[in-house]
Amino acid sequence: MIQKTPQEIVLIKKACEITRDALIHAKSLIRAGISTFDIDKSIEKFIIDSGGETPCKGYMGYPSASCISVNEMIVHGIPSKNIILKDGDIVSVDIVASYKGYCGDATRTFLVGEVSEEKKRLVRVTKECFFKGIENARVGDRIGKISHAIQQHAESNGYSVVRELAGHGIGRKMHEPPEVLNYGKETDGAVIKDNMTIAIEPMINMGKKEVALLNDGWGVVTRDGKPAAHYENTVLFTTSGVEVFTLEKDDEYYSR
Ligand code: MF3
Ligand code: CO
Repeated sequence: MIQKTPQEIVLIKKACEITRDALIHAKSLIRAGISTFDIDKSIEKFIIDSGGETPCKGYMGYPSASCISVNEMIVHGIPSKNIILKDGDIVSVDIVASYKGYCGDATRTFLVGEVSEEKKRLVRVTKECFFKGIENARVGDRIGKISHAIQQHAESNGYSVVRELAGHGIGRKMHEPPEVLNYGKETDGAVIKDNMTIAIEPMINMGKKEVALLNDGWGVVTRDGKPAAHYENTVLFTTSGVEVFTLEKDDEYYSR
């Protein structure tokens, strides 16, 4: 169901707290020299130790608890012992944790050591896209209100929006209706309903919007090889506003 019951919202919120804390844990591991495999293993242990589960593992054959995507990889990077972080990388860590059958989904793009100003700006603007997306969206608006604001902010900064991937409703399943595109018109998409939980996830390319799929069938990279960033939160819409369930408590942005 698109609209969640109060009992479901309690469980989704708990899943989101585990997801958020797993991202904070992941951030503490980020340094030149660590493999994405070791980061993933530590995330998996953190989620299990927190009383959660890792629905990505086994999902359509996906082998890991998290997706870890470096530089020109946009999403769905399979963690690997051969992928070693190095100074100047940007690394997107995408985590889904579940609790008593309900999911939370969030992503952060972290900086490894000294990162160029142009990559830092991409990461900052991608985060801003999320907040621009929720800023004016209310119950009764269309999802397109979010999508349009994301596209506007990305393109006005000279970046492009990935078309092949989107945000989504979330609950018992990690992907539920409605689809939450990162581009489009304000009048597009489903109507935002009271007690709807969705994952909003701008995926923004520094260069052109075109993507390519790796031979492993998962990793999505930019076709031009330029970097991409990703920022995702699970949010709850109610008639009193929007609450960002996976946001760090000390983040400089506030829910309303
Ligand atoms: N977390 C991704 C999303 O934001 C999906 C993960 S794909 C999986 O939708 F295969 F890893 F599960
Ligand atoms: Co998602």
